[in-house]
Amino acid sequence: MVAQKNLCVLILAAGKGTRMKSSLPKPLHPVCGFPIISYILKAAHALRPAAIGIVVGNGAEQVMQTVKDGLQAWGVNTPLVFAEQTELTGSGSAVKAAVPLLKKFETVLILNGDTPLLRAETLEKMVTDFTNRQSGAMVLGVNVPNPFGYGRVVRNAQGGFESIVEQADADEETQKITEINSGMYIFKSDLLQTALTQLTPQGPKNEYYLTDTLYLIKQMNQSVDVFCADDFTEALGINSKAQLAEAGQILYARTAARLMNEGVTLIQPENTFIDEGVQIGADTIIYPGTYILGKTTIGKNCVLEGGVYVKDSVLGDNVTLKMGTYVEESTVEATCQLGPYAHLRPQSVLKKGAKVGNFSEVKKSVIGEGSKVNHLSYIGDTQMGAGVNVGAGTITCNYDGKNKHQTIIEDHVFVGSNVNFVAPVTVHEYAKIGAGSTITKEVAAKSLGIARARQVVLENKGVKND
Ligand code: UD1
Ligand code: CA
Repeated sequence: MVAQKNLCVLILAAGKGTRMKSSLPKPLHPVCGFPIISYILKAAHALRPAAIGIVVGNGAEQVMQTVKDGLQAWGVNTPLVFAEQTELTGSGSAVKAAVPLLKKFETVLILNGDTPLLRAETLEKMVTDFTNRQSGAMVLGVNVPNPFGYGRVVRNAQGGFESIVEQADADEETQKITEINSGMYIFKSDLLQTALTQLTPQGPKNEYYLTDTLYLIKQMNQSVDVFCADDFTEALGINSKAQLAEAGQILYARTAARLMNEGVTLIQPENTFIDEGVQIGADTIIYPGTYILGKTTIGKNCVLEGGVYVKDSVLGDNVTLKMGTYVEESTVEATCQLGPYAHLRPQSVLKKGAKVGNFSEVKKSVIGEGSKVNHLSYIGDTQMGAGVNVGAGTITCNYDGKNKHQTIIEDHVFVGSNVNFVAPVTVHEYAKIGAGSTITKEVAAKSLGIARARQVVLENKGVKND
């Protein structure tokens, strides 16, 4: 969307969230790994408003800190201001707390801090409709299968906006209305400011309802309109742990649908957990119980077997991750094979065609092209060249109790089984290391390094058979 220099977005996030029964402020509860408020901020940012305001109250310090710390990772760099609501007396008083911000802009889009499923495209359409219809205020409505708990959109005889009635204030007829208030609105800022001064406490809890401003603006002979969203899930507000789980499932389902549309094969989409931003190439096959999280990119024709976990990583084409493999902050080039039960810890790089097999762990290391670490090994702080074969049970002893040290294994080295490399140590190209060796000194190219006690056979020390 083009930059909207007269528009600010205001996110209401001060509420107590009592029904969450949690010590964590509601906007910070994670959905698919990210706080609820991050989704709202991302959608707001996508509109390219001049500023975003967040009204904080309950858990203000924690909310502000988490938002400040997260902005970069969420890709949000719209100027941000916080406004503090000191008395939590309803959504109307929440907006009042932000009046100094509203004064600077012609138009204000108000979002709830608890609706992580809204889409930027829907907000864009709504902004366009607001402009075209020259509305004084507009509410985002939506038809839901179960309207219980929401404010209902009451329409007049002509089908236009009449009022919003909260659940607590709704009579039997009104309770039957399935069109609900999403809690998202656009206002002409001056009209909103005037209406805010006219609010009076309402309902069982004596709260200032933001929704009353719509009615007040209508009384000023300004048009109030409803923009109806197609997808009701966008308005789902999270008020309980059950709704939190539901929102997570919907987000995962949306990503799964997108990926299948792009040619990815998901054996059981409802049991595959892939974060929003993840990119996966066509014909990659993903088995159930798989988590693909954060900033991850996966190439074409890969296979990810069940129980695989990949976070913040890049996988090339034709990579196979066998069952139970765990990959974090690493790069895996084309045609590599991992697992079953392989573990790549941060800053590991597997060059083309490398293999890391069962129960092998790699940390902050490069495994060169075509090299193999197939069984029960620990490779840490290691630079390994191409064509290396590492025998079963090999350990790089990278830690002396104080510092970490490097192991360098050059191209085409052959390492026998059960070898310890006591770092810092270098093994030059085409060298061989005898099985069971503990290598503490440099091994020259093309030589054999062997460091173990010679076998002795002592006679008559076996089982007595007299
Ligand atoms: C609100 C709407 C309701 C709508 C629903 C959609 C009102 C009066 N009602 O109801 O019509 O269907 O959202 O989810 O607005 N907040 C504050 N300060 C407060 C109270 C609330 O900042 O003192 C914030 C909350 O953090 C939340 C938002 O306002 O993000 C809505 O508050 P909530 O208590 O969830 O309102 P609902 O009762 O769900
Ligand atoms: Ca709510």
